[in-house]
Amino acid sequence: MEIVILPKPEDVLDAGAKIVEDQIRSHPRSVLGLATGGTMEGVYERLIGRRLDFSGVQTFNLDEYVGVGPDDRGSYAAYMRKYLFERVNLKPENCHLLDGTTSDIRAHCQAYEDAIKRAGGIDLQLLGIGHDGHIAFNEPGSSMASRTRLKTLTPDTRKNNAPHFPEGEEVPLHVLTMGIGTILDTRRCVLLAYGKNKSPVIAQAVEGPLTAMCPASALQWHRHCTLIVDEEAAHKLARQDYYKFVYKNKPGS
Ligand code: F6R
Repeated sequence: MEIVILPKPEDVLDAGAKIVEDQIRSHPRSVLGLATGGTMEGVYERLIGRRLDFSGVQTFNLDEYVGVGPDDRGSYAAYMRKYLFERVNLKPENCHLLDGTTSDIRAHCQAYEDAIKRAGGIDLQLLGIGHDGHIAFNEPGSSMASRTRLKTLTPDTRKNNAPHFPEGEEVPLHVLTMGIGTILDTRRCVLLAYGKNKSPVIAQAVEGPLTAMCPASALQWHRHCTLIVDEEAAHKLARQDYYKFVYKNKPGS
């Protein structure tokens, strides 16, 4: 895993957006895996300003709330329209999202996996991280081999996500999410995090054991994972000086 430690949150967002920009410019028909949440808002904002041609790009989102339809304000479909889809030239038929109102969850999740495969696999996956180590909505205990499926959120995750949900509406208990195995199959993934409150989980994910109790630790097993954090999120990493040394001396940079 490549660990990049940058001074400020804005630097983390700039670096994340730059990786997506380079991917699209070098491979205009890229397949992107997209995340939602507070961290990603700044990434999408930056991408919009970069006048990229998304016309050949396909996207697959990580997760969606069960019982929430694409037109509901709290849906991740609505989030994506607001922060990205309606602001760039992505073709609607190329934007894939899980449908939280499907009547056949098992078949729908399998169809999502099949669609990723048909698209040729995900070239670049964006990830955030929850305070409990979740990636996508794979909460602690999720199988490292899991594929897209139904999961139950922890009370903490529901509480943390409440401010992002329409006022007066409860954050659903269940979600559909890509699995850890699905994420491990992506060709490259980039996890972004900033702020002191993410520092304990960043240390666990990077320097702790590979364990289902910290789903993000599975990324230690990913073939090409870059983790970009600010100084605050990095401050519990025991080997931060080494990571900075490696990055500074990166061949070709
Ligand atoms: C959302 C998702 C989640 C978030 C994570 C961090 O699609 O996959 O794993 O990335 O909960 O959320 P923020 O960025 O709000 O801290």
